[in-house]
Parts: sequence; C-alpha cells; structure tokens
Amino acid sequence: MIRSRIAGTGSYLPPRIVTNDELAQRIDTSDAWIQERTGIKQRHIAEASQTSSDLALQASRRALEAAALKAADIDLIVVATSTPDFVFPSTACLLQAKLGVKGCPAFDVQAVCSGFVYGLGIADNFIRAGTHQRALVVGAEVFSRILDWNDRGTCVLFGDGAGAVVLAAAERPGVHATVLHADGSQAGILSVPGNVSGGRIVGSPFLQMQGNQVFKFAVKALDEVTRETVAAAGMTLEDIDWLIPHQANVRILEATAKRLGLPRERLVVTVDHHANTSAASVPLALDEFVRAGKIRPGHRVMLQGVGGGFTWGASLVTM
Ligand code: UT7
Repeated sequence: MIRSRIAGTGSYLPPRIVTNDELAQRIDTSDAWIQERTGIKQRHIAEASQTSSDLALQASRRALEAAALKAADIDLIVVATSTPDFVFPSTACLLQAKLGVKGCPAFDVQAVCSGFVYGLGIADNFIRAGTHQRALVVGAEVFSRILDWNDRGTCVLFGDGAGAVVLAAAERPGVHATVLHADGSQAGILSVPGNVSGGRIVGSPFLQMQGNQVFKFAVKALDEVTRETVAAAGMTLEDIDWLIPHQANVRILEATAKRLGLPRERLVVTVDHHANTSAASVPLALDEFVRAGKIRPGHRVMLQGVGGGFTWGASLVTM
C-alpha cells in the first residue's frame, strides 16, 4: 500500500519583529498582561509589499531544498490560508507561478487555523490514492492585514509567517492517520464577517473573537481529536514523541498536554516568539524543531489544528 511521508520542511518569517512593549506604546496593554495571559513575547509582521504567496514561496523553497527536490518534481500544491493575496486566483496558483512551474493541480484550503492539518490530510489522501507522488503543503498567512490594531483583545495575539512540507510517496508511513472535524454552528465565535460586494466591503474586514469560548472549545477539541487520531493509527498516547498543537496561546497548549497526560518536555511551543500565525503555526513550529535537531527521523509527531469555522483536526506522523 502506498503511504506518504514528510520528505522536507521549511519556513519563513518576515524580518520585522514587533514586541509587546512596542504595542503597549500604541494601545492600552502591557508586556506583563500579554505574557501572563498568552505566553506571547513578540510577533513577526510582513512588510506592506509582502503577500501570503511571497511568504509561502520562501518557505516552499526551503522545504524543497530540505527534500533535495526541485519545484518541477512537485505534482500537487495545497496552500492553507485565510489571508489570500486575492479573492482569486488562489494563493496556490500564484505560488506555483512564483516557483516557475506549471501544470500540476494547485488550490487553497480555507480552514483557518486548522488549515495546515486539513491540507496535510488532503495531500496524504491524494498520495495514498496513487494519483500523485510529491505534494507541497503550505500554511501561509499575513494575519496582520485582518486585525483591528485598536482592538487590544485581538491584535496582540497574531503574527505573520509561512511553513511548508514536501509530502512524498513512501512504502511506510509517514502519515499514519489524520482526523478532521468542523462545526459550522460555532462560526460566530471566531470570524472575519465581511466580504467584497459591488466594489465595497460589506460587513467587517477585521477579526472578531469570543476569546473565552474559543479557549474552552479549543482545549476540549484538541484533547478529543488527539485520542481519535492515535486510535485511528492503532497507537496509544505513549507513542507520541512530540505534540505540536496550533500555536494560539501557551495556556491552551499546556492545558492540552496536561489533559492528554503528556509531559511538558514533549510539547512544542513557539507561540512565545511567533504569536498565533493561524494556518502557518504548525508547519512553522515543526520546521523550527526539525532544524534545531530536536525532532529527528523516526520520531512520532502529533500535529493539531483548531480554529475558525469552527474546525479542528490532528495528524499523527512518523518523521
Ligand atoms: O487560533 C485560535 C484563535 N484564538 C485563540 O485561540 C484565543 C483563545 N482565547 C484566549 O487566548 C484568551 O481568551 C485571550 C488571551 C484572548 C483573553 O484572555 P482571558 O484570560 O480570557 O481574558 P478576558 O478576555 O477574560 O479579559 C480579561 C480582561 C478584560 O478586562 P476586564 O473586563 O476584566 O476589566 C479585558 O478587557 O483583560 C482585558 N484585556 C486586556 N488587557 C490588557 C483584554 N485584552 C487585553 C490586552 N491588554 N491586550
């Protein structure tokens, strides 16, 4: 049976760093409040000229290099983003052009902060079906563009960035199991409730969130979907070497690890220096720990996404 495995990882963060103290000069907040409630110390913010496809390009080049492949070797491109360059064409098509290739299918996945795990599950199924052999799966976001920078309840939480993996056909997994869920009845607790119509923005172009409700939903959803995923893989929680939850808030990450009975040393935390980069957060964290030599070949990694929709999911992967 054909399976898929991660052949290379890459990521990119725009160079400009915005600290909590810098935000506190503009809005009524403090470094102490942000760190205590979220664990966030800083975030990277893209230049006005940089789009999600630009960030995705840098991350993709690094993932291709790590996999020792060229862009022309890729036969499927999936980009998870909620901050696409345009209404259309998709960011995946723009990325394909920037990579200098054409022909292979390229499309975006819109599952907000679960987008990368959704994209990984989709690409894994393409490869298992035998129709495609080498997929580029990317999470790329410029969330700074959809924040109300006067709303201290949301703007301090997010940042920009991109992460990518090359998923390649293999005889052994790789991706053991991916479980995905959504509950559209919870759409109102985290949304950007606007669109472009008749040449105008209708509704709001800014992120809105019921923070407490999102928090509670996230911890429960991540716990449940992780248990489902290890069961689907025929494994147990003890088989997990690393837990990489969507990086939203260190309190959510620690509560999730605690509920699952996993020690703090196995929990990957990058939210302190990346903030919440939505669909980019999981592949960014994965790449950082791979390049640091902490996540190594043979390690079992649980990737978890949760976010607007509401959507959530997890994927258990042997590196
Ligand atoms: O990708 C998924 C997306 N989002 C998330 O995962 C976020 C999930 N939720 C959270 O992380 C937390 O709910 C927050 C960090 C957003 C908020 O933390 P909290 O402990 O739930 O605080 P709160 O919303 O209950 O607010 C407590 C107080 C309020 O003041 P009062 O009403 O008690 O006087 C807020 O106005 O903190 C105030 N506050 C702030 N103070 C200083 C809210 N934001 C700030 C701020 N600086 N930036």
